[in-house]
Amino acid sequence: MVKSLRGMNDILSEDYERFTYFIDLASSVAQRYGFHFIETPLLEETALFKRSVGESSDIVGKEMYQFIDKGENDVCLRPEGTAGVVRAFIEKKLDKAGGIHRFFYHGSMFRYERPQKGRLRQFHQFGVESFGLDSVYEDATMIMMVADILKQCGIGYRLQLNSLGDQNCMPQYRDSLVKFIESVEDEICEDCKRRKETNPIRVLDCKNEKCQSLYIEAPKLINALCSGCQSDFDKLKEILDDNGIKYEIDTNLVRGLDYYSKTAFEFVSDNIGSQSAIAGGGRYDRLVEFLDGRPTPAVGFAMGIERLMELIVMPETKPQGYYIGAMDDESIDTVIRLAQQKRATDKVTVDYKAKSFKNHMKGADKAGAKYFCIIGSNELKSGTMIVKNLEDKTETTIAFGEF
Ligand code: HAM
Repeated sequence: MVKSLRGMNDILSEDYERFTYFIDLASSVAQRYGFHFIETPLLEETALFKRSVGESSDIVGKEMYQFIDKGENDVCLRPEGTAGVVRAFIEKKLDKAGGIHRFFYHGSMFRYERPQKGRLRQFHQFGVESFGLDSVYEDATMIMMVADILKQCGIGYRLQLNSLGDQNCMPQYRDSLVKFIESVEDEICEDCKRRKETNPIRVLDCKNEKCQSLYIEAPKLINALCSGCQSDFDKLKEILDDNGIKYEIDTNLVRGLDYYSKTAFEFVSDNIGSQSAIAGGGRYDRLVEFLDGRPTPAVGFAMGIERLMELIVMPETKPQGYYIGAMDDESIDTVIRLAQQKRATDKVTVDYKAKSFKNHMKGADKAGAKYFCIIGSNELKSGTMIVKNLEDKTETTIAFGEF
């Protein structure tokens, strides 16, 4: 039997209800914040991710679904959504047009990771990207939007916050960090030795306990921010305080993608096991420029839909729509005709087989219908049907025309 690939799941039945419930809810929140839908291809040139997510990141270094296509192009399935949106933004010349452009998206992402609970090889993200604003109010708005979505889903969280500095303060900090790493180099893991050469700040989120205990003494970027980054970070905290959003400062939060500067944040849940990050994002003011666009400040986030589906508190579903059935064969065509008319405006479940009242009632329950409608030979003759409201249990007989 052919089975799905490891780390790739089907989403159906009850899961699909959660999945679409979340996407509808998050999309309507994003629209309320002034974001517009964008769809970008699943497949992009590999160079796009090398130049954005970064060659030193685990995603590009180890986890890409990369191949040469039939036209000899080096392509890969997108591991995340930001790079494609930035590519589209530049390709459509919105960088040259200037102004503010806000997008939201949802869809599959692919990372060849070791699958475990909450970690898949094909997973789904809901994300937003905002271009054209260097104001820290937009960073705060991103965070408040995630908080808003989580609140509406009934999901509790902890928000972790950091600033990654900019080109004024990051290079100096990087030098001091490299000096520190060299002082403990004999004791750190092989991955960290590699990170020291490629992207030193990534050592700070190494999962190795020995490394972590050594890095407690490492210089902290938060203490080395330039005045611009410091005042933005202070303002961000002030806006969040003002709006009742609680946060923790995590000086080791560096994020797994190389394009961030200044604000970086992650929302984590304590209720889903070790893969606890449910959303992450931050500012990426240099990325448009790195991908050959006109320099444009930008900020965004993405949420992991599978992880959220574990946590969503679904609203109670009320019975809705109609179930219609025939009690004898001669009424079936009429049932189909009436159902077809009603489907112009309502959800209608039809049973094509003639059955007893009781057996049809079982079907109506299973379909979650609010109204149970049935036609037998007597009703057919008089042009009527029996309609039972399954919520308040009232029963009436109506003419076909009233249906
Ligand atoms: P990310 O932190 O790599 O950021 O992913 C965002 C979220 O996707 C994570 O918090 C997690 O919930 C989910 N996720 C990541 N990997 C997996 C996996 N293997 N299985 C299941 N869920 C996963 C980004 O992708 C950035 N593009 C976010 C962003 C947008 N930054 C700015 N704009």
